[in-house]
Amino acid sequence: MDTLHESHFPHTPRPMTDQIDTLLTEQRSFSPDASFQEAALGAADLYAAASTDRLAFWADQARALDWITPWKEVLNWTLPHARWFDGGQLIVAANCLVRLLHGPRRQKAAIMWDGEPVDRRVYTYWDLAREVGRAANALKTLGVTKGDRVAIYLPMIPEAAIAMLACARIGAIHSVVFGGFSAESLRDRINDAEAVALITADGGYRRGQVVPLKRFADEAVVGCPSIRDVIVVRRVGGGEGGASETFASMTEGRDHWWHRLLEHASADCPPEPMEAEDILFILYTSGTTGAPKGIVHTTGGYLTHTTATTKYVFDLKDEDVFWCTADVGWVTGHSYVVYGPLAHGATIVMYEGAPDWPDRDRFWSMVATHGVTVFYTAPTAIRAFMKWGPSYPAKHDLSTLRLLGTVGEPINPEAWIWYHEQIGKERCPIVDTWWQTETGGIMITPLPGVTTTKPGSATKPFPGIEAELVDAQGRPMAGGGGFLTITSPWPGMLRTIWGDDQRYQETYWSRFPGRYFAGDGAKLDEDGYWWILGRVDDVMNVAGHRIGSMEVESALVDHPSVAEAAVVGKAHDLKGQAIAAFVILKEGQTASPSLRDDLRDHVVGKIGAIAKPEDIFFCGDLPKTRSGKIMRRLLKDIAEGRTLGDTTTLADPAVVSRLKEMYGEE
Ligand code: PRX
Repeated sequence: MDTLHESHFPHTPRPMTDQIDTLLTEQRSFSPDASFQEAALGAADLYAAASTDRLAFWADQARALDWITPWKEVLNWTLPHARWFDGGQLIVAANCLVRLLHGPRRQKAAIMWDGEPVDRRVYTYWDLAREVGRAANALKTLGVTKGDRVAIYLPMIPEAAIAMLACARIGAIHSVVFGGFSAESLRDRINDAEAVALITADGGYRRGQVVPLKRFADEAVVGCPSIRDVIVVRRVGGGEGGASETFASMTEGRDHWWHRLLEHASADCPPEPMEAEDILFILYTSGTTGAPKGIVHTTGGYLTHTTATTKYVFDLKDEDVFWCTADVGWVTGHSYVVYGPLAHGATIVMYEGAPDWPDRDRFWSMVATHGVTVFYTAPTAIRAFMKWGPSYPAKHDLSTLRLLGTVGEPINPEAWIWYHEQIGKERCPIVDTWWQTETGGIMITPLPGVTTTKPGSATKPFPGIEAELVDAQGRPMAGGGGFLTITSPWPGMLRTIWGDDQRYQETYWSRFPGRYFAGDGAKLDEDGYWWILGRVDDVMNVAGHRIGSMEVESALVDHPSVAEAAVVGKAHDLKGQAIAAFVILKEGQTASPSLRDDLRDHVVGKIGAIAKPEDIFFCGDLPKTRSGKIMRRLLKDIAEGRTLGDTTTLADPAVVSRLKEMYGEE
C-alpha cells in the first residue's frame, strides 16, 4: 500500500450524511472574521517569525511566562529525546495563580463552577490561590514531597483543579484518572506510577445519580501497596457524619476528609521551584497493547505550549469567559481547563455533569448564565445537540459567544455547519483543533481572524509546528491521503512513557524513523489544508474517548467463558465509533443474551462504562493472517456492513465470508 485513500478510514464518523463523500466534495469555506483583526495582526506575524527561526519563536513564547532562572539552551534534541529550556527554573503555581494576585484583578473570577444538581460556586484568583496553598500544605503534612506521584480520581469539581495545582506547587507529579474509569483501571494506573497518595471524593453526580467514587477507590486501593493516604472530598454527603457515610466509609489512619485537612492548613505554602524539565504530570492513555501508557509531560515546555496556543487559538482577552467542556481526566481538561487558561488569568467555567441534565439545554443555559464568550467542545457532543434539535439552544441568549472550538475527533462538515449556524449564529469563527495526549497542546488549527476555514478541516499547523504527510514508506507527499507525521520537536511534546522509554521509542519514533508518528491518517488538499481522517492503528475513538482494541479484548478474554476476542470500532452516528466485539467462547459454553450482558458488565468492571461494547457477536472463528494476526480491518468491514476488503492474505478466506453472512443475520 503506497498511499492511503479515504476508503482506508472507514471509521470516520458518518452521522446524518456520508462523511467520506462529503469530505471529498466539501467546497465551502469561511473567510476570517473582521472582528478578529487585532488577533490577526499579532498572529500573522507569528507564522513568519516561526518559519524564519522556529526556536527563537518558541523562546519568545516561553518569555511570556515568569521564570526565576533563565534557561541556558532553548532545545537540546537527541532524537527522540527533547529537553526544552534546559537550565531554566519556574514556578507553575506562580504562573497559573499568583500573576493576578498583586494587582487590582485579584478578585477576578478564576473558576465559575456549576454542579449538576444546579449548585454553584465561584472562586476568585485570590480564593483559588488560598485553597491551592492549603491543599499543598495538607499534602506536605502527609509527607508528600517533590517527585512523589499523587493520583487524582475526582468528579468535575473545583477541587480537581485545586488538587492538580497543589501538586504542582510542591513539585509532586499528578496522575489524574478519569472518574468514569473502573476500580481496576484506577488500580493499574496507581500501581504503574507507584503513587503515594490518592485524592478522591465520596461521589459525584451524573444524570441525577451518584457515582460512588470512594467505593471504587476503596476497591482499587486494597491492591495498591504504594498508597499511604487517601484524601476524600465531600461532594455528595451532607454534614459531618451525615449521608456521606453511605458513600464513603473511612479507613482509620489511611483516609482523611479533604475539608478537615484544609481547615487546619495554612494558606501560605512557599512554592517549589521547578526545573523546566521536571515532570509536571503523568496522564495515562490507550495504545495498541492491553496496557495504557503513562504519558510524561514536563514543566517549562508544556506550559509554554499550552499558554501560547491558548492565547492565539482562543484569542483570550481579559474579559473573556472561557468554557472548555472537557473533563480534567483527559488531556484537554489539563491543557485547556486548567493550565493554559489559568496561566492567562482567564475566567473559566467548569461543569460537573451531563449535557442533558436536567434537560437538553443545560449547556446553553450555562452559556447564557455565565456569559460564556469562548466555547470549546467535542464533535460527539455537537452531534448529540444536532439530534436533539435547534429548539434547545434557541431558548437561550447565546449572544455573548464570539468564538467556538472543537477537539477530539474528526468533525463531519454537517455538524460543523450546524455548530456555525445554530450556536455561533454565523458570527463566530470555529477552530477545529487537532492534537493528542502526547502532543500536550494544540498542533493543527485555524487561528481566528487569520485562517480561512473549511468545515471538516483542522487547516494548518500552529506556528512552530512542522507536520508532514508521508506514504507507507515514509516518503513525503505533497497531497492526497497518507500518514500524519511531525518532523521536529515541539515544547509540549511527551518526553517519554513512564517507566518504559523503550516503548516510547518504538511507539512513536520507529514506524517512520526520525519522525513522530501520531497514529492518524490524514489528507492534504490542494491548498495545503489538513483533513484528519482518524486512527490507522488499533485505537478506537468512542465519543471522543480513546480506547485500545486490545484493552477491551483483554477484558473480554479475562471472562471465564471466553476463549478469544477481537474488537473493532464501527461507525456510529453520535459517538463517532462504537465498540463491536467478536467473541469465541470456550468449549462447552453456550451463547445467550444473558452471557452477552454478563460480558458487557465484565468489560465495564475491568475498564469502565466508556468501554462497554455496543455489539457482541459470538462466532466460531476469526479471520487471521497466515502468521496468526487477527485482521481487524475485515471485522470492521463486517461490522459496518461494507463490501469486504482484500482477503488474500488470510489463512482461511472462507472464515470471513461465513462471518459476514452470520453477522448480517443477527
Ligand atoms: O485521532 C485523533 C483524534 O484524537 C486522537 C487523540 O486522542 P487523545 O489523546 O485522547 O486526545 C484527544 C484530545 C486532544 C488523535 O490521534 N483527534 C483529536 N483532535 C482531532 C482528532 N481527529 C480529528 N480532528 C481533530 N480536531
